[in-house]
Amino acid sequence: MQNDTSLNIQAVAQEIAELTDTLNGHNYRYYVDDAPSIPDAEYDRLLKQLTVLETEHPEYCFPDSPTQRVGGVPLAKFEQIAHLKPMLSLDNVFSDEEFEAFYNRINDKTATAPTFCCEPKLDGLAVSILYRDGVYERAATRGDGKTGEDITENVRTIRSIPMKLRGDDFPPLLEVRGEVIMPKQAFDSLNERARAKGDKEFVNPRNAAAGSLRQLDSKITASRSLGFYAYALGVVEPETWGLADHHYGQLLQLKSWGFPVSAEVKQCDSVSEVIAYYTDIMTRRSALAYEIDGVVIKVDNIAQQLKLGFVAKAPRWATAFKFPAQEEMTLLEGVDFQVGRTGAVTPVARLKPIFVGGVTVSNATLHNADEMKRLELMEGDTVIVRRAGDVIPQIVSVVKQFRKDNAKPIEFPSKCPVCKSLIEKVIKQKKLKTKSHTIEQATHKCTGGLSCKAQLKESISYFVSKKCFDIDGVGEKIVEQLIKRSLVNTPADLFQLTTDDVIDLDGFGELSARNLYDSIQAKLVVSLERFILSLGISEVGDATAKSLSKHLGSFENIKKCPREALVLIPDIGQEVADEIVSYFSNSNSLNFVNKLYDTVEISPKEKGLSSAIVKKSQMAHYIVKLEVLGISKVTALPIAERFGLFSSLLDAEFSDFLSIKGLTEKRRSALIEFISKENNREYIIELEKSLFDIGLHWTQEQVVEEDYSPVTYFTGKTVVLTGSFSTMKRNEAKGILEDKGAKVSSSISKNTDLLVAGEKAGSKLTKAQELGVLVWSEEQLIEALNE
Ligand code: IVH
Repeated sequence: MQNDTSLNIQAVAQEIAELTDTLNGHNYRYYVDDAPSIPDAEYDRLLKQLTVLETEHPEYCFPDSPTQRVGGVPLAKFEQIAHLKPMLSLDNVFSDEEFEAFYNRINDKTATAPTFCCEPKLDGLAVSILYRDGVYERAATRGDGKTGEDITENVRTIRSIPMKLRGDDFPPLLEVRGEVIMPKQAFDSLNERARAKGDKEFVNPRNAAAGSLRQLDSKITASRSLGFYAYALGVVEPETWGLADHHYGQLLQLKSWGFPVSAEVKQCDSVSEVIAYYTDIMTRRSALAYEIDGVVIKVDNIAQQLKLGFVAKAPRWATAFKFPAQEEMTLLEGVDFQVGRTGAVTPVARLKPIFVGGVTVSNATLHNADEMKRLELMEGDTVIVRRAGDVIPQIVSVVKQFRKDNAKPIEFPSKCPVCKSLIEKVIKQKKLKTKSHTIEQATHKCTGGLSCKAQLKESISYFVSKKCFDIDGVGEKIVEQLIKRSLVNTPADLFQLTTDDVIDLDGFGELSARNLYDSIQAKLVVSLERFILSLGISEVGDATAKSLSKHLGSFENIKKCPREALVLIPDIGQEVADEIVSYFSNSNSLNFVNKLYDTVEISPKEKGLSSAIVKKSQMAHYIVKLEVLGISKVTALPIAERFGLFSSLLDAEFSDFLSIKGLTEKRRSALIEFISKENNREYIIELEKSLFDIGLHWTQEQVVEEDYSPVTYFTGKTVVLTGSFSTMKRNEAKGILEDKGAKVSSSISKNTDLLVAGEKAGSKLTKAQELGVLVWSEEQLIEALNE
């Protein structure tokens, strides 16, 4: 009879095997079927469970476990591996004619007309992977085609490459060839992180994939989100194994054994179908998840492939049909500084015209001063220009060896090239796509406002555009003339134009003057949303204009709304709120908007505040926002209830603060100290006044409204805090989390959503890991709170 322990151990072994199978199954659905079956968080939870079991029972931790993809001990150098069968390269064709020539060559040599398997030409690194009895054995780079480098440990970290093959019909010895790539998204976030840390960025996904794969420390490879697509078989033993007799069929076999195969693979029967495939992939190129530089056309029939054979290092039966180059070299002829609608000054490179990415390019944006600094541009430089898909041409880098010794650096101007006003540097915190980092981005702004002719021109063109006032017939040339003749100094002046004013514009006569006048006058009635959008406030696009109109209801409210209330409106963050407040406190823009408001009619008629804003905008909310130590939502509610008005709170006597629920002695003194400071008092009075000004008032029922906090990541989650925290007290963290809608509990259970573990976390951490509860560090918590 088995004793308890061995029974237990058997159960553990079985659990490990089951978890491994489940996770590998999810991996397959994610990477091969491209149809994830569970959320990432659930996958991570299962993986954590498996890690815990394997740590306790290392004897059951096998090399094909999904936990073994984290990288191992760094190598001293890469060993050489001789390929069992050489890794070939491909000949290229660059045009339909060249492809037809390729077709005719092979058609002459085959009894029946060849048909093709067409695939994207993935821009990564060729690797060869060996499986014995369905188990991953080793992987090598292409090297010179005969010998490559042993990258077994690095390839093991690529999650989409199976460590064990699926099914039971794979050959005992199988060599799989394919491309290791870095998906564009992974490349972007890798570079964003590098930028945030001040590290060197990779030039393109292929270099990033190569740099990540050729790491002696496979832990680095593991951290890099590499992908893989299989495109061919290498050695198969026994040779008589039941492989499909067409390449396409073999790719399907590879897929069934667990390898990702590009979803873009397609069988084509004729030259015209191949050309249509090429064109289709080229137009969708930028939407693909990975970089490609062409398509590969392979004779589909394996017997025909064998008959056609090889020349030198490339097969006769396949060719790479390449896309036009996306990068070319040219001369920098100068840099223009363009002033946009909101005054942002953008450097634009003037280039010696060059054919790149299928079009002739003579300008490339340099984005901002940081980008100029990154490129270290100098006058007369030779530059590498890139144009990918519909993307604006970019300068990738400077070819420094072509630079003349006496070349002068290109400086960012300190005065606007159009109106000579000072250019001011504005530093903005930009959230990165990955959301885990913010970086500082410097933009330069011309301070001239609408008195700058460049800003005025752009503002008018924007003002008359479809989504704003939608005025027909005010094209760029007309705008330029109106400005030159000082007929309009702000977009509002358009409405004052008479037919006499415009009759002698270039090409104008009586009829065209009348038409222009009529088309302007026809737009005197406008919705509040379009009115706000037309002002051209930085960061205020359609969605924000709509939200402002919906929630604040009238122009006066939008104009007077303090930033504390603006941020309560959906989609409006601190940065946008600041732009709005600063716009309406600038006398130049006020001149224009007030004039516009007096001229046009807003329809439908303006309303008041939305009930959503009234609900959110309650006294307790603003008490919390004062950030008085220890005063969170729970204490703010009874304080608001007791005083009813900020002015009464400021006038209160000591005894008024007694017996308020939750207002401990400590919190009370913090509050009293806060409201005794003159600048705080002024701020509070001003805030209450401006909130009342836009029609808010504190009402009893709304103060006790339970659920007025915005939905956050933490809403409804049960969070446990453990260990000691370094940047804040645990209690403070508790208050903040509660404000964000979390329930903070003191014990771990399977219902816990998140454990935040500070220094010296003990048994709670262990228990959370056992239960597979998500665990964060204090740093991760702070990051999430800042989002
Ligand atoms: S087949 C015998 N298929 O292109 C044919 N190669 O210039 C061997 N490549 O080193 C290659 N995508 O890295 C093939 N779908 C694809 C490919 C592909 C990219 C790369 C591969 C190879 C190079 C040949």
